[in-house]
Amino acid sequence: MEFDFVYLDEAESTNSEALKLANFTDKPTFIIAKKQTNGRGRIDRLWADPVGNFSGSILIKIDEDLQNLALRSFVTALSVFDAIDQKIGKEHVLTIKWPNDILLNGKKICGILLETKNLHHVTALVIGIGINLLSTPKLNEAHRVTTEPGSIFGETGIKLDPLNFSELIAHHYVLRENQFRTMGFSKIREIWMARAAKLGAKIKARTPNFEYQGKFDSIDEKGQLIIINNGEKKKIAAAEIFFK
Ligand code: BTN
Repeated sequence: MEFDFVYLDEAESTNSEALKLANFTDKPTFIIAKKQTNGRGRIDRLWADPVGNFSGSILIKIDEDLQNLALRSFVTALSVFDAIDQKIGKEHVLTIKWPNDILLNGKKICGILLETKNLHHVTALVIGIGINLLSTPKLNEAHRVTTEPGSIFGETGIKLDPLNFSELIAHHYVLRENQFRTMGFSKIREIWMARAAKLGAKIKARTPNFEYQGKFDSIDEKGQLIIINNGEKKKIAAAEIFFK
């Protein structure tokens, strides 16, 4: 798999650009914008994206069911982790918060948003990646996230160039995608768990209707979160996770 790269000075959202482009190309494409004016995050949140931070979306067309497509959430988290890990010193703690936030020294520095579009006989998968390379956007109360945000520069003093960094992410994505295709999700899951934040610790998972507390036990073969409370196992497909 080889990527075409598209660099934009400005976009409303690279995910929107990738979803539009899906009608015109079958080639895996990585769209990167220097600046987004209306970037979106999970659960209808805004994703503020000042110049100097990374915003990009991977577009790939895959003929698989949605459940399998969704596992790219973990594949991507590992790839971005690999790219960041290659650039920062070992004294920093890099972890992944379920399902796909990347934390540096406990602060969220990267968010990933998967979106799909059905085309004839194939699904276009768009994987949006936002990384606070340089600065930590100020969030107002309405958009306060569950984990304190940070930036790579703020935590390490290392400045990474967004355009160069897109090539490193693409490089690692291809490796992880191949691993996923040849070895299946079990290998990705095993590596993901070794990098997971708060594995074995008490966490809180909030869904629109319920809140569960318990020990973060593992993730299953579908990527669902497994929490154990009083010996009872709970599997959660989607939730907001709180560590405190
Ligand atoms: C999250 O809420 O944690 C996910 C944030 C994803 C942000 C990225 S930035 C590039 C791409 N384009 C968007 O509009 N969103 C994603």
